[in-house]
Amino acid sequence: MVYEILKRLSDAHGVSGSEGSVFRIIRKELDGCVDEIREDPMGNLVAVKKGNDFSVMIAAHMDEIGVMVKFIDEKGFIRFITLGGWYLPSLYAQRIILHGSRGAVRGVIGGKPVHKMDEDDRKKPIRLDDMFIDVGATSRDEAVALGIEIGTPGTIDRECVELANGRITGKAFDNRVGAAMLIKVLKNVKSPLTLYGVFTVQEEVGLKGARTSAYALDPDCAIATDVTIPGDHPGIEPRDAAVEMGKGPVITIVDASGRGLIASRTINKWLLDAARARDLPVQVEVGTGGTTDASSIHLERGGIPSTTVSIPARYIHSPVEVVDLNDIEAGVQVLLEALKKKPKI
Ligand code: CO
Ligand code: ZN
Repeated sequence: MVYEILKRLSDAHGVSGSEGSVFRIIRKELDGCVDEIREDPMGNLVAVKKGNDFSVMIAAHMDEIGVMVKFIDEKGFIRFITLGGWYLPSLYAQRIILHGSRGAVRGVIGGKPVHKMDEDDRKKPIRLDDMFIDVGATSRDEAVALGIEIGTPGTIDRECVELANGRITGKAFDNRVGAAMLIKVLKNVKSPLTLYGVFTVQEEVGLKGARTSAYALDPDCAIATDVTIPGDHPGIEPRDAAVEMGKGPVITIVDASGRGLIASRTINKWLLDAARARDLPVQVEVGTGGTTDASSIHLERGGIPSTTVSIPARYIHSPVEVVDLNDIEAGVQVLLEALKKKPKI
């Protein structure tokens, strides 16, 4: 079941630049299932399944959005920067875990109580300067003694749980969903091709690990696995996001209105043919919003034909992301089927 590994990955903590504990879970999970596992200089985990001389890179970013300590005041309150694209009101009043030199420290993101806000305050979205982390310390020295220092990373404290209809909610489905898919693919793949499963770092802060690993591996084609935005709930219209949760994995035609990725038609046809061959549900997307690792991979070397297979995830970049397990299972199957033969490049 993909749920078990996804829950473990989502409940793990790995903000951009501090992906170590996610890395360790994945390495252990893949141990004995691939021909080679290594860490590259950026911290990417590269898992290799050896095959013929045609190589496919599948990338899944390990990092999640979070925070980093930038200042501790004399009363022990902690100021922070955000890492990744937060909508600030969804950070306010969350429980947080700081990953200090002496282990995990629990805290909350506090701010001015609503009772003390004037009319104007209440109408305005909260700013970063209005928030701080309270770990219970009463002085800077106490905070420091807990192992907290300038540069300590923090992540949301929220466990993955099941909802109705095979749907689940957790804090880091962007992109532990992609990581879980890639693990399942690596464990079950039967392919004549060489497969590079790359669990990348620092996607949420500029698609960085994907860029260096694609350069180093120089694959013949690439697929990023990630999440995307479904337009199937209040507040968003299908015309603004045409895919739906529960209707299958999504193959990108274009993302960020073409500024991110214009996907390879050949690679897309390869995946769509695979879905058709097995009668698997699949959706296609012309997106206007975010990008994925594929945006940086396809520009490496002399150009690497690339696309993205993503899973519709509601409320992404919040602590309560929601996905449908059936979409993930179908995504794995589409990839496994495609990898049985090489794309016609
Ligand atoms: Co993201
Ligand atoms: Zn992502």
